Amino acid sequence: MKFLSTGSFVPPRRMTNQDFEKIVDTSDQWIVERTGIHARHVAEEETTLTMAMAAAKQAMEGVDPSAICLVLVATFTPDQATPSVASQLQQALGLPEEVLAYDINAACSGFLFALLTAERLLEAMPGKCALLVGAEKVSGRLDYTDRGTCILFGDGAGAAVVQADGRPTWADYGNRSNGSAIYTDEKGLLRMEGRQVYQFAVRTVTQSIRNVLEKAGLEPGQLDHVVCHQANHRIIEAVARHLGAPMELFFENLGEYGNTSAASIPLALDEMHRNGMLKSGQRVLLEGFGSGLSWGSYLFEW
Ligand code: COA
Repeated sequence: MKFLSTGSFVPPRRMTNQDFEKIVDTSDQWIVERTGIHARHVAEEETTLTMAMAAAKQAMEGVDPSAICLVLVATFTPDQATPSVASQLQQALGLPEEVLAYDINAACSGFLFALLTAERLLEAMPGKCALLVGAEKVSGRLDYTDRGTCILFGDGAGAAVVQADGRPTWADYGNRSNGSAIYTDEKGLLRMEGRQVYQFAVRTVTQSIRNVLEKAGLEPGQLDHVVCHQANHRIIEAVARHLGAPMELFFENLGEYGNTSAASIPLALDEMHRNGMLKSGQRVLLEGFGSGLSWGSYLFEW
């Protein structure tokens, strides 16, 4: 799979741990020690659609719109149930009508699932491209009195245009239905059993990365970059330790953005791309995990 371009957007309003000290019983030290998060960006007038649009416009710069045959938006926080964010993007970006455009709700695994879906569909559409977006306004789903959850999340969007190029890729993915680990309650607010999610993430992500490496016949040290869903520094550190892989392999920007759910992987990829960290031929492993519970690993060459 070839990434032709990337884009991203985060709202300018930046909410620090010190800002949270004023609204819940917490401290900068507690948040940093347990999560590695220092700040997150929070939407004001921005919507999931406007953030998706800003990221997608960047990713579409220099791309021929007629090459796009698929628009997938990963989100669990669409502004409205229907029409889909993807459908509205197709129209607003002036993309051809002959596209498949729909949203994917797999929470924090959403971008990974969109990528896996795109790969399968693009195999049947030679030369065509997919616009993939992860966009979330998680702040609209947070209970700002629930200190165990509200400090973790931020808003934003990331996007990429991808094209199947025949090079081999390797994947591992799954779902283990557990509706009580991360879910929205009757008011639509996000609830989470932090410990349970932490243990799931460390065990399952480690095993999924092992599975995908085994399929590819590679050792962790032969990877160039691992881009995990940016949930928590401690989860990433524990996964690296269990794999026996150096932390330098693992890209992190969660300190600035917190957990942006489906936006986190494309947001990270765009930052890496813009900073020149991604070189042609490098082995990149993407790892999504979250509500479902769901997870997915995807190994490819940049
Ligand atoms: N500030 C201060 N104290 C807090 C707090 C906060 N923001 N949130 C919770 N606490 C308190 C708890 O009330 C509890 O107090 P008690 O012992 O008096 O009852 C104490 O800290 C320990 O709570 P616990 O939930 O056991 O903490 P933890 O060590 O598990 O850390 C998380 C909490 C959420 C940071 C951790 O469980 C985690 O990272 N889980 C994974 C979450 C995640 O990444 N979810 C998204 C996946 S896609």
